[in-house]
Amino acid sequence: MPIFVFRMDSKNYFINHLAQTSPFPIGIEVQSAEGNWITDTSGKRYLDFISGVGVTNMGHRHPKVVEAIHAQAEKYLHVMVYGEFIQQPLHDLAEELQHILPKYLDNYYFVNSGAEATEAALKLAKRVTGRSELVAMKGAYHGNTHGALSVSANEKKKYRFRPLLPDVRFLKYNSIPDLDQITERTAGVILESVQGDAGVIVPSTEYMQALAAKCKSVGALLMVDEIQCGMGRTGKPFAFSHFGIEPDVIIMGKALGGGLPIGAIAAPKKHMELFSHDPILGHITTFGGNPLICASAAAFLKAMRTEIDWNEVEEKSELITQFLNHEAISEVRKIGLMYAADLQSFDEVKWLFDFCLERGLITFWFLSTDYAFRLAPPLTVTKEEIEWTGKIIREGLDQILSRRT
Ligand SMILES: Cc1ncc(COP(=O)(O)O)c(C=O)c1O
Repeated sequence: MPIFVFRMDSKNYFINHLAQTSPFPIGIEVQSAEGNWITDTSGKRYLDFISGVGVTNMGHRHPKVVEAIHAQAEKYLHVMVYGEFIQQPLHDLAEELQHILPKYLDNYYFVNSGAEATEAALKLAKRVTGRSELVAMKGAYHGNTHGALSVSANEKKKYRFRPLLPDVRFLKYNSIPDLDQITERTAGVILESVQGDAGVIVPSTEYMQALAAKCKSVGALLMVDEIQCGMGRTGKPFAFSHFGIEPDVIIMGKALGGGLPIGAIAAPKKHMELFSHDPILGHITTFGGNPLICASAAAFLKAMRTEIDWNEVEEKSELITQFLNHEAISEVRKIGLMYAADLQSFDEVKWLFDFCLERGLITFWFLSTDYAFRLAPPLTVTKEEIEWTGKIIREGLDQILSRRT
């Protein structure tokens, strides 16, 4: 059958010619994706309960996003490197960000990925303060470029690539006593508003406020990574707004692009304009602010702002909490639609993942917290879809329990 031959070939090609990141790629051969569902080339449908790992927060191919991409593609694509020409999609995206960010964060720099946004933030902290020390958190993940890896914590993922950036100090996340180590040598403190890769660790409001006060008192920039926990994931557009703090820099990516690649930082103009002199062109990128991607991102933000009922997101969150209340799980950590459920080992997590996948449900694991099972459905997931998911996962958890005895 020709279709069979095509599928075998494409799988072999994938394995042999496309760089692999692990020995066990999931390997779904994608045909199409729409709303909360992905269809493979055999016609099997999967409910995407991980949002392409924190990206498709408004579902796949949101109609307004697709419309904006089509409209922009009809006008122009790349015309000039970042920052030189005036292009409407960047203006539209900046305006959408202004709707959901505090007024003082009035300046935006668009790049191509989350890791690049992290890089821009780290450089900005050094440029603003003239200092070199960067403070990061144990358990942190900020991306895979050298700078981002330097402020990420997992040593197993770092040691092969040393030397990394010097002068990085790691503190215990959510520990008020550790804040004493932030001093007048510190250029900036970078942390996830809610830690993702560490297995969904939600800090206390008291800690976040003490951290913000400490940064202010020593003149260090407080930089919050909202790449995974932003864009509605925690039940508000930005996770930092749960804690009543005023960060100096917001680092964004993932869902912001509406399904296309993007990164961004937001900061006050008085800081950001330092990139334009001493040295001139102090931070540059060819494709950052690409018009097609900014059009998509602006449409995504507008859709989230106008279509999402945050109370309903909380109700959905509650339904997930209910089905995760199971003897096989020792702890659930959650905020909004960002979930980690602890099993006993990676073997159990992988077994449950495979069990779900077989039944048409996509879940995931964490890079560094290997005993935790991960869920992060789109904000658009329906209550019926949650109910269906709950049945599958509970059946899997029952089997895990019986496998343990
Ligand atoms: C919290 C956080 N920061 C940074 C990144 C890096 O983003 P990207 O993969 O777009 O470089 C990620 C990606 O998973 C992330 O979760």
